[in-house]
Formats: sequence, structure tokens, C-alpha cells
Amino acid sequence: MLGEYHIREEVGKEEIRQRVQRIGRDIASDYRDREPVLIGVLNGVFLFFADLVREMAMPVTIDFVRVASYGPHNVSSGRITFTKDVEVPIKGKPVIIVEDIIDTGLTLSFLVDHIKAREPESVKICALINKLERREKKITIDYCGFTIEEGFLVGYGLDYNEQFRNLPYIGSLEMGHQSEESVNEN
Ligand code: PRP
Repeated sequence: MLGEYHIREEVGKEEIRQRVQRIGRDIASDYRDREPVLIGVLNGVFLFFADLVREMAMPVTIDFVRVASYGPHNVSSGRITFTKDVEVPIKGKPVIIVEDIIDTGLTLSFLVDHIKAREPESVKICALINKLERREKKITIDYCGFTIEEGFLVGYGLDYNEQFRNLPYIGSLEMGHQSEESVNEN
């Protein structure tokens, strides 16, 4: 129990560490001598991003974006806009978008279109969690940490009402007195 919530551990601290290390090394080996631009999607990505870049023994450029969605997030009509856009030059550069979780895929598909419009050399996707149950857009993930079918995930950056981001593991929130309908998106 954490306060009034019960959180079931889905992926432990050590398993995360090993997987993040593997992804960091894979990216470093794939991008040898190319200095990728890593763009993290705030806020949820902050821990994954910080751990990932420290596993990459190579020159990298980093930046962040933050997006806001208006209207129902779980329908394709939901509008997404930037509250912080990319600031470093990406034209002609190899870009890797780094996400904590891909759920419906709407955020990422918006981001990929936006970033491609700036004519980078290439765009690849790195995501800690590929969550499948609500996917609407087909997304190809180049570097994936963990695939999880369903559940409301928290911890290691992921929140519920801004809580639980600092948990060192990935857990699923089990509802006690609250209804499932009040917690339907990450
Ligand atoms: C999460 C996550 C992704 C997005 C994925 O962000 O970081 O950006 O949702 O969902 P989608 O695939 O359904 O578009 P969130 O809006 O929860 O903000 P946060 O990162 O600040 O927690």
C-alpha cells in the first residue's frame, strides 16, 4: 500500500537498470560517430532519459518537448499542441524521440509528423513501455524497454495525478474505493 493506493510491482528496479543499459549500448553502437539528437517527451520521461543517456558513452545532443492535449485524449479528434517545442537544430541530424510510454500512440504520431517536417536525416523511436490495450495509431518502436498489455502504470517517471513519479520501479495502480472510469489514461 502507498497511502490509500495499492501498487503492484510490474517491473523491478534491477530489471529496469539492465534493460536501460542494454538500450543505451544498442543506440551507442548503432549511432557510432553520428551524434544523435535525443528528444525526450516531458514530464514522464525524466528518469528514463537521465538513466539512458548515462549508458551512452558517446557524444549526444539532448533536448525536450512538452505537449498538451485538449479534448478527449483517447479519441483521434483530441488536439495536441506544444507547451515546449524543440530548440536545438535538427535539420539533417539523426533524431531519436524518447518516450516513457506509448499508449494510444496519438502523442507520438503527432510528434513524428512535426519533427519530420523539420527535415532531420532520420527519426527513430525509443520507448520504455509499449502499452498495447488502447493503441489507435500504428507505431514502429525501434528501441523498446518493456511491452505491457494493460493496466494503469505508475512509477519510474509515470504518474497518477502527479503522484508516484519517483517510485524506482514500474507498478500498476490497483483501485480501491475509486472507480476504474475515473482512471482511464496515463
Ligand atoms: C504520457 C506519455 C506520452 C503520452 C502517451 O504523457 O509520456 O507522452 O502520455 O500517450 P498516448 O500514446 O495515448 O498519446 P502524459 O500526457 O501522461 O504527460 P506526462 O508525461 O507529463 O505524465
